[in-house]
Amino acid sequence: MVNKMSSIKILAIESSCDETSAAVIEDGKLLSNIIATQIDIHALYGGVVPEIASRSHLEAISSVVDSALNESGYTLEDMSAIAVTKGPGLVGALLIGVSYAKALAMASGKPIIGVNHMAGHISANFLLGAKPPFICLVVSGGHTMIVRVDDYTSFTVLGSTRDDAAGEAFDKVARVMGLAYPGGAKLDKLADLGDEYSIDLPKAMLKEDNYDFSFSGMKSAVLNYLNKAKMKGEEVNKENLCASFRRSVVDILVTKLEKAAKAEGLNTIAVCGGVACNSLLRKELKALADRNGYELFIPDNVLCSDNAGMIAAQAYHMYKNGDFSDLKLNAVASLELCQ
Ligand code: KG4
Ligand code: ZN
Repeated sequence: MVNKMSSIKILAIESSCDETSAAVIEDGKLLSNIIATQIDIHALYGGVVPEIASRSHLEAISSVVDSALNESGYTLEDMSAIAVTKGPGLVGALLIGVSYAKALAMASGKPIIGVNHMAGHISANFLLGAKPPFICLVVSGGHTMIVRVDDYTSFTVLGSTRDDAAGEAFDKVARVMGLAYPGGAKLDKLADLGDEYSIDLPKAMLKEDNYDFSFSGMKSAVLNYLNKAKMKGEEVNKENLCASFRRSVVDILVTKLEKAAKAEGLNTIAVCGGVACNSLLRKELKALADRNGYELFIPDNVLCSDNAGMIAAQAYHMYKNGDFSDLKLNAVASLELCQ
């Protein structure tokens, strides 16, 4: 009981895109992680509609927060702090979470912690026991980076995409093949049925001596392939195209991650972000770890996609560092990981 009283308990809120989520963490251990997804609504429009996202967050947030507290067995009064994603993301969506968290903090007199969404994604690995330093492949719908996790709250970006993020590329290619938004996961399923070496697609920047990526040319290569087939009146084997595209993207991601781990002399690797749900990426990361004798961290799918549990994981370490915000906390749409 004494331990319960003195433990660090944080309520975290995430609303940066199309998931309204709240979680409670106690001394680094996740007690609840409630996620209300809006995907079905946005799928009707072929992508996230920012105004609809904001309104849906507003509708869901209070019951999501209540459920997270209920499931944890604690009340708001028991919390040591309130954490919230402050960016990057859709500004209107972020503002719902930030405003709600500020209201809770003001009403309860608890400190508030503003968390970077990308630091949150990386922190999903702390929930599995990953200890810095390690190299993390960050692959989401908006970001693709190779990050050196120097400490629990300090990061060095070794490289990132120069145009589209990996998730964005998966979604765009899926869309031109007629798959519903967000198509990444559907493309992954279809790819399982195809021959991944049947169509020759470029592997952009694979051999360049850096940790940067470029996916927009690969997306155009798929479009060109589809257009050419249409002009010739040929039928496209979608499974083969999905499989070939997935193979090219995964080869690039894994090659650059391996290179970074070797150059940095680190033998712990991790992955995070929605694209980390990709089945081939997960398989190839395991093969990479086995080949080199690396320790590998891959969060469960629910901790890879947007969720407040990962925000809580980062907030726990920020709390220990005394890294608090004040009630002037604002949403920042284009927040960088390292400022
Ligand atoms: O991290 P996340 O949930 O949201 C952002 O912060 O962006 O990532 C969502 C992205 C979407 O682009 C989605 O299509 C992609 O992750 N994704 C996948 C898979 N599952 C989700 N991409 C490829 N294969 C998957 N299995
Ligand atoms: Zn995300």
